[in-house]
Amino acid sequence: MNASPPTIIAIDGPAASGKGTLARRLAEYYGFAHLDTGGLYRAVGLAVLRQGGDPADSAQAIKVAQALDAAQLAGLMADPALRSEPASDAASKVAAVPAVRQALYDFQRRFAAAPPNGAPGAVLDGRDIGTVICPEAPAKLFITASAEVRATRRVQELQSRGITAIYAAVLEDMKSRDARDSQREVAPLKPADDAFLLDTSLLNADQAFEKAVSFISTKVSALAENG
Ligand code: CDP
Repeated sequence: MNASPPTIIAIDGPAASGKGTLARRLAEYYGFAHLDTGGLYRAVGLAVLRQGGDPADSAQAIKVAQALDAAQLAGLMADPALRSEPASDAASKVAAVPAVRQALYDFQRRFAAAPPNGAPGAVLDGRDIGTVICPEAPAKLFITASAEVRATRRVQELQSRGITAIYAAVLEDMKSRDARDSQREVAPLKPADDAFLLDTSLLNADQAFEKAVSFISTKVSALAENG
């Protein structure tokens, strides 16, 4: 059992801003657990689609979110279809429903309070980690990049998985998802007041990682760089 509470690193940002890659690298570097919270909303969206339902129908989304058990969640989180554009779109529709967010809240809090495998800390990435899920996190980062750069990254990501993607369509889908995520009433996408804003438009993954580590070292003395 850990003597001190886990150290939480909160990472938020819009679609394809590079937050997932950064979160994974930080978790590996510090030996922390990582939770891709977008995967939870994608899992709910995908489950609704698989049932032949409509993700924009909040009653259906709530029913699915409340019934989701750990085994089903693990299966959906490992499903390659989770990263598809229909699942992205469905995720942002179900994510606007307060009762869906509430159903996923406890899971995220438990992960942060007791990271799996006794890890001494956790990196959570999403849209509302610094503002709603872990406002007490000592290190909060908000990752951005221009819409064009993000669309280019998403096209490359999809193509690397063998999924054909058209840049203009991806850009359009991403912009409408960003608008929905930023304008929704509950837990809208926005930086916490004390978040470090990191624009990765002109940075590669290594450069973004270095900037993040140097910010985190100023916030968490136990994670200070030792040269
Ligand atoms: O990978 P990408 O950044 O495109 O998306 P994601 O992080 O997997 O999130 C998919 C969708 O889930 C987002 O568009 C949000 O609507 C929703 N989401 C959310 O509302 N809150 C979170 N903490 C994480 C994701």
